[in-house]
Amino acid sequence: MKFKTIDDFNFSGKRVLVRVDLNSEVSDGKIQMSDRISESAKTIAELCKKGARVVVLAHQGRLGDEDFTSLEQHAKLLNKIVKIKFVDDVIGEKALSEISSLKDGQAILLENVRGLKEESDGGAENNLVRTLAGHFYLYVNDAFSVSHREQTSITGFPKVLPSCIGRTMEQELNALGHLDKMKNALFILGGSKTDNVLLMKKKKVITCGVYGHLCLVAKGNDLGAQNKFLEKTVKDYSAVLADLKKVVLGVRTPMDLAVNANGRRKELAISEFPSEYEVFDIGSRTISLYKDLIKNSEAVFMKGTAGYCEDAKFCFGTRELLNAIASSKCFSVLSGGHTSTALKKFGIPKKKFDYVSLSGGALVWYLVGKKLPGLEALRK
Ligand code: 3PG
Repeated sequence: MKFKTIDDFNFSGKRVLVRVDLNSEVSDGKIQMSDRISESAKTIAELCKKGARVVVLAHQGRLGDEDFTSLEQHAKLLNKIVKIKFVDDVIGEKALSEISSLKDGQAILLENVRGLKEESDGGAENNLVRTLAGHFYLYVNDAFSVSHREQTSITGFPKVLPSCIGRTMEQELNALGHLDKMKNALFILGGSKTDNVLLMKKKKVITCGVYGHLCLVAKGNDLGAQNKFLEKTVKDYSAVLADLKKVVLGVRTPMDLAVNANGRRKELAISEFPSEYEVFDIGSRTISLYKDLIKNSEAVFMKGTAGYCEDAKFCFGTRELLNAIASSKCFSVLSGGHTSTALKKFGIPKKKFDYVSLSGGALVWYLVGKKLPGLEALRK
């Protein structure tokens, strides 16, 4: 079924609720400008230009995680492209008063919606939907990258409001049609998101980034300080490891890793672990093996970074892999917000890849044929 788009509605003087994905990298407490932010800004700008009164819902991080923050900085970044006011509230008096005093062509961004317990409910009977829905003519989902989540701002509002998709979502959906070439692809799974596990049964899988460290631990390796870091930061650590143990055996994991030895990059073979230092990148032997595999693949899918790209000493692995994909003749798909931010950082043109998706987990769900609750809700 085709979804309704922005082109199917008249927005003049209408209040619209738009869910975008602003979730971006945080470095030293600072939100980094990202394609997710700039693409969302374009949808907001288009709606404002059409005379809509735009209220934006979005999230950053997950409650309890280090990257869970207010959206105030995101509003500043959006303002480089579109005029939008930040309101540090979602369903309180302040938010309601700002929503009702909006004029045609104006936009506001509400506070991180994941700060509300109602967001995790996913239904239409909770306080979030009950308080906001009545103020709107239309709900716009412009966040394909969050549409694998059964969360109220994704699945609740379309149950009670007329709905359509935004431009970012439209672009992502149009590109999905080309992904049949991914069937025999080499899957490079990095970053820290554990949705990757869904792709582990693919024939050719290589791992890196925090995800690669998790796979090494699941294979029985003791990385030392990095084990402690994983235990501390990975949600549901024991369950994640238990799931990984079932699928990790045929999967390639790094042969060597770079640790942060008091500010210096030091490479260690896996046999040299456990180490007192935390891991920040893949090592040179792994990089060269992975580059060979890329060279010999007809299609490559890369999701997530291979190391800590905020530090020049540890972005080596990610840059080398991305450059190898960019210069190979393979059909290439990049996935995830941090991957497209890394591209920008290294100055590698997007056009060197067949498709650069802003979605991570959502694209994984799509590739393994799982239904995305956000899209299902729009269909109904
Ligand atoms: C993402 O970064 O993939 C999206 O923003 C969804 O975030 P989540 O994995 O925390 O739901």
